[in-house]
Amino acid sequence: VRAVPYDLRWDGEWHLTESALRAAVTPRARAVVVVHPNNPTGSFLKEDEAGVVVGFAAAAGLAVVSDEVFADYAFAPDPRRAPTLALDGPALAFTLGGLSKSCGLPQLKLGWMAVTGPSDLVREALARLEIVADTYLSVATPVQRALPRLLALRPSLHAAIAERLRLNLDALRRALAGSAATLLTPEGGWSAVVRVPSTVPDEERVTRLLDDGVLVHPGFFFELPGDGHLVLSLLPAPEIVADGVRRLREHLDREAT
Ligand SMILES: Cc1ncc(COP(=O)(O)O)c(C=O)c1O
Repeated sequence: VRAVPYDLRWDGEWHLTESALRAAVTPRARAVVVVHPNNPTGSFLKEDEAGVVVGFAAAAGLAVVSDEVFADYAFAPDPRRAPTLALDGPALAFTLGGLSKSCGLPQLKLGWMAVTGPSDLVREALARLEIVADTYLSVATPVQRALPRLLALRPSLHAAIAERLRLNLDALRRALAGSAATLLTPEGGWSAVVRVPSTVPDEERVTRLLDDGVLVHPGFFFELPGDGHLVLSLLPAPEIVADGVRRLREHLDREAT
C-alpha cells in the first residue's frame, strides 16, 4: 500500500477540495483517507467537504477511510461540521475510532470501525474483514472484557484531556500574540500548527529550538509544504507547555532582531 498525500488549503481555516483529490488520484487508487479532525491541522471536514469526499469516492469506485479518533475533541461547536462519515452514503466507508484518544489509553490497544455504505459492498467488506481479523492478532481478551467499564470512565478521562488542551491552546495563543508567528487556530484535535517566518529552514529552526529546550515538529514531518510551519503538541502538562511557549516566543523575538 502506498499513501499519496493530497493538499489541504488554508484561508483562515483549512479546506479539502475536490481538485486536490483529483490531482492525487491515479487508476491504482483504492481509497480516499481523511483524518477528521485532521492531525496535525485540527480541521474538521464541513458537511459540504464530506459530501465532496463521499461523492468523489463513489464516482471513482473508491472506498473512504475516515480516521475519527480525535472526533471527541472540538474546541468549539460549528454547525457546518460533518458529525461523522459513518453514514449510509453512496461510497463504502470505514470509520475508525479507539480508546487511544477517546479515553487517552493508547497502551490498551483497542480500536473499532464502522463499515457503512451500499449494503452489498458492506457485506463483502465485512466478510473480508473477518478473514483479516482471524489472520492477524486479535484484540486482547482482558481489554475486551474491561471495555464497558473503561467506556464508563470516558467522561472524566475525556474532560481532563479536553481541559488540558484548552489551557495549552490558550497559553500558546497568548504567547504568540504580537509575534512574527501566526497560530493556524485548530478547530479540534491534540496539536496546533504555527506559521513562522520562512527565513530559516524548518529543520534548522527546530534544531535551534531543541537547543533552547523546546521540542516541536517541523511542518515537513506532516507534509506541510515548504518551510515556515511548526507543529506543537497540546498534550503535555500545562506548566511544561507554558514554559515551552515562553521559550518559543523568546526564540522568535531573538530571530526577528
Ligand atoms: C490520526 C490518528 N489516528 C490513529 C492514531 C493511533 O491510534 P491507536 O493508538 O488507536 O492505534 C493516531 C495516533 O496518534 C492518530 O494520530
